[in-house]
Amino acid sequence: MKVLVVGSGGREHALAWKLASSERVSQVYVAPGNAGTAREPKVTNLAIESPDALCDFAQTEGIGLTVVGPEAPLAHGLVDRFEARGLRIFGPTRAAAQLESSKDFAKQFLVRHGIPTARHATFSDPVAAHAYVTENGAPIVIKADGLAAGKGVVVAADEASAHQAIDSMLVDSAFGAAGARVVIEECLIGEEASFIVVCDGEQVVPLATSQDHKRLFDRDQGPNTGGMGAYSPAPVVDDGLHARVMRDIIRPTLEGLRADGIRYRGFLYAGLMIDSTGEAKVLEFNCRLGDPETQPIMMRLQSDLLDLLEAAVEGHLEQTTPRWDSRPALGVVIAAGGYPESPRQGDPIRALPANTADLHVFHAGTAMASAAVAGEGSEAQCVTRGGRVLCVTALGDDLASAGRRAYAAIGEVAFEGMQFRTDIGHRALQHHG
Ligand code: AMP
Ligand code: GLY
Repeated sequence: MKVLVVGSGGREHALAWKLASSERVSQVYVAPGNAGTAREPKVTNLAIESPDALCDFAQTEGIGLTVVGPEAPLAHGLVDRFEARGLRIFGPTRAAAQLESSKDFAKQFLVRHGIPTARHATFSDPVAAHAYVTENGAPIVIKADGLAAGKGVVVAADEASAHQAIDSMLVDSAFGAAGARVVIEECLIGEEASFIVVCDGEQVVPLATSQDHKRLFDRDQGPNTGGMGAYSPAPVVDDGLHARVMRDIIRPTLEGLRADGIRYRGFLYAGLMIDSTGEAKVLEFNCRLGDPETQPIMMRLQSDLLDLLEAAVEGHLEQTTPRWDSRPALGVVIAAGGYPESPRQGDPIRALPANTADLHVFHAGTAMASAAVAGEGSEAQCVTRGGRVLCVTALGDDLASAGRRAYAAIGEVAFEGMQFRTDIGHRALQHHG
């Protein structure tokens, strides 16, 4: 079967790599992909991005299954278009993707169905929003309602920064229409985990748990990013908590969607905050896999990803149980200089470690530049294309050895301005004492 993966990040590289390893897959196309997907055996990049062109390609090439990586095409209804043309695609429809594309929609949904989450109120009037902050005090969380590429959440430690965030979103329109409404939330304290499931509209199958590191610098300092590293499993989610999350969060979410007349078929990512008593609340939903969580999760998946996704598209997930490598996996993101504010672009990546059975370098912001552009060598050269550049991901007998393997490989990577955290996995290592 030929399959198509939509997107260009590390998550899509990991999906394409895993799909290509299936004996049933003859060819994986990635639209638009990156320099890493271009090098994978059985994987070809496609320079098309418009929804109609993607549908046309899938139809004329006889693509058996399309998988959508990022949230934006889902929120814009790519799945609806494919389905309207009778093309097989895995991902939520535009209506279902509102769980991510509108935080107010998600909060109303959670409240309506009694699913645990932080107390909140939604505002479009700045005066009322400021009054709510004054009444409730800090710390408090201000969120742009719509998609803001991971930048629309301000965890305000004091009232002044909360007021500033409100003004930037509601008055100065820093996020355009996405910030025309703000959700203001109680600040939850605890440890975060990513709980991702595959849904076929009726049934759900949980993937291995994971945790990411959102802050740019070591010891969780500095600005929030899309994620600087991740590992799987998340030790904070022990068996008891796993069962409670399925019972109190995941199943009520699927039942709630059905009750609201929304069929959810796709990956569903519940971002959880787990307090010191082991109680989990939903911080957010994403209508897709996490990036970089996908990279360690895919390293650990031993069964066939195509089988799993096909079962979901065909509505018989109950017959499928993914098999996982019992070893943990850990991925460290190497970001471009200037990330996240203004990432440098076009820096030649001078060395890349070789992939092995226990180590894979997933690419994100990379591209192939001609020798003239890259300024060295005679062959096309891999260069940075901004943001997160690579995610070096390793398996190990325990998390510490996975970390050692990933960091040893990172020692070989060299490009101007590269930045990475040196403490990925620190929380999990504390859990193990
Ligand atoms: P979100 O996009 O809603 O997940 O928010 C991004 C990040 O902001 C989360 O991963 C948390 O680190 C933080 N965050 C969001 N909501 C809250 C909250 N209610 N309390 C504390 N931290 C939060
Ligand atoms: N790593 C967090 C996310 O993908 O939203």
